[in-house]
Amino acid sequence: MNSKVDVKEICYPYHLKKDKLINLGSFYTSDKYVKIVWDFIKPFIDKNTVILDPACGYGAFLKEKTTAKKIGNDIDKEAIKKAKIYANDVTYFNYNALLVFERRAYSIKDNEKLIIIGNPPYNDITSQAKKNIKKLDFNIDKKLKTRDVGISFLRMFHYLKADYICVLHPLSYLIKKANFRLLKCFKDNYILKKGIIISSKVFHSTSKSSEFPIIIALYERNSNGMSYNYIKNYKFQTIEGKTFRLRDFDYIGNYINKYPKKNETFSKEDILFYTLRDINALKRNKTFIDKPNSNAIKVNLQQLDYYVYVDVFKDFINVVPYYLGNLDVIIDTNLFSRYKKYFISYALRKREFLKKYYQQNFYTNDTQQIKQYFKELLKEHYNENTKS
Ligand SMILES: C[S@@+](CC[C@H](N)C(=O)[O-])C[C@H]1O[C@@H](n2cnc3c(N)ncnc32)[C@H](O)[C@@H]1O
Repeated sequence: MNSKVDVKEICYPYHLKKDKLINLGSFYTSDKYVKIVWDFIKPFIDKNTVILDPACGYGAFLKEKTTAKKIGNDIDKEAIKKAKIYANDVTYFNYNALLVFERRAYSIKDNEKLIIIGNPPYNDITSQAKKNIKKLDFNIDKKLKTRDVGISFLRMFHYLKADYICVLHPLSYLIKKANFRLLKCFKDNYILKKGIIISSKVFHSTSKSSEFPIIIALYERNSNGMSYNYIKNYKFQTIEGKTFRLRDFDYIGNYINKYPKKNETFSKEDILFYTLRDINALKRNKTFIDKPNSNAIKVNLQQLDYYVYVDVFKDFINVVPYYLGNLDVIIDTNLFSRYKKYFISYALRKREFLKKYYQQNFYTNDTQQIKQYFKELLKEHYNENTKS
């Protein structure tokens, strides 16, 4: 790296306007996380290694001194100009990496060991956040096309036959079943070896209120790939030193419908609830709703306690740490049955219509008791620094 370069400069795409920045997913990575990637890949570097960052921005990942051959690419010409200044011992290209993805195009030989690194863009074109500015500025090859550019990048790595991949990407690609399925050839040919979870809020210009977990993940090429069961049992680590497995928890989806049924009809007496996705979606979305819409679920009265649970969960959601944000709403049904009266008391105070269904006392200490429930539910994951 050029010694006159200010480290901070490399972390922000100064040449881009806000809408372009979002469409290209140009959230540059700071040194702290680049270092984790290099620590992960170092054991695999030898004389025959090529290191490629196919979406390199200003070249944050390519400054490291190494014996390996380094290659950078970005669709953004201006970014490449800067990268040439910041990291000048690198061969650069200016391709759309989702259209050009043969080793030959990057002058990488079939017998060279390829390690892909970086922080490819993620941009779910169907997501609600920033809906009005999101659009795709470039074409994507048919084999790679999905609703999320980041998932397309992971698929592309398979076609380049990378031996190792160490990149940052949303944790939701692995832990949300629908996303995991979309990874297709990637999940069928790679296995997660190591991972550290960080918060999206460490990136410039990202929303501090809708933070989501990002994993710095090391994958190894493996003909057996990985199953969703492998992910369920995987012990994830966070940068704060916490660990968790998906199978450590029980989820509300095991007890209630999370999505509307096809061709559901509603009557005036029905209680309606908004579609349930993950914990982060619950932060943004409503719970009980007044009028039917395409996201409305008809509440089965036998399961009303569980819907009340979710309604109250939303009010205490800040006790759940960011890294569990893509999980389904967590529940411990035995524990809940002990604390249920406090949840109902709390819900009755805010929702008049529930009085028709519950005849029970109010508890003045319900908030305290519900907090206690969450402490017991989340244990070491309970987030103390919360206002709720
Ligand atoms: C999250 S930034 C990462 C930049 C750099 N690796 C870093 O971490 O500082 C994503 C980069 O992907 C680039 N990009 C977006 N779509 C691309 C595409 N189809 N082909 C190549 N690069 C692309 C953007 O221009 C942006 O520089």
